[in-house]
Amino acid sequence: MADSGLWRGDQVDICCFARLKEEHEAMLERLNECLRPLAEIRDKQRHPPINPDEAVQSFLQWTQREFLPHLQAEQDLCRPVLTIHAAGEPLYRQMLADHRKLRELAQQAREEMLLLQNEDSIREDWWNTLDLACVWSFQRAMAEHVDCENREIFPKAIALQVKE
Ligand SMILES: [Fe+2]
Ligand SMILES: [Fe+2]
Repeated sequence: MADSGLWRGDQVDICCFARLKEEHEAMLERLNECLRPLAEIRDKQRHPPINPDEAVQSFLQWTQREFLPHLQAEQDLCRPVLTIHAAGEPLYRQMLADHRKLRELAQQAREEMLLLQNEDSIREDWWNTLDLACVWSFQRAMAEHVDCENREIFPKAIALQVKE
C-alpha cells in the first residue's frame, strides 16, 4: 500500500476512497470485458463455437492480478480507519464478510472456468452443457459489492475521518 499513493504520512488521505472508487470502475470494466464473449454466447448474440481459452485465461488473470490484490489492499487501508471507531467496526466486519463471500464465489467461478479449459468432454459442446452459473453469480455479486462500498461504506468511512 505504501507505494500505491493512497497513504499520506501515517494518516489515510480521504482521497484514497475516491481512488478506490476509480479502481472499482476500472476493475469492473475489465471483468466485464473478459466475460463479454461468453455473455454474448449466453445471450445468443454470438454463435458458438468459439475457442473459450482466451476468455478463460483473461478471467483467471483478472482474479489474480486485480481482484485478489484489490481486496487485500482495501482491507489494509480500511482496517485502521474503521476499527478505531465503534461505529466503524460493523462496517469493517461487513467488508470482511463480503470479501470472504466474494473469494468463495470467485473460487467456484474459477473451477467452472477450469472445466471449460481442461475437460475435453465439456469443451466439445460447452455452450450447451455448461451454463457458467457460478461465473454469472460472481459477476453480479461483484457489481453489488462495489456499489455497496461506493454508496454506503466509503461515505460512512469518510464521515468518520472528518469527525476526528
Ligand atoms: Fe471490497
Ligand atoms: Fe472494493
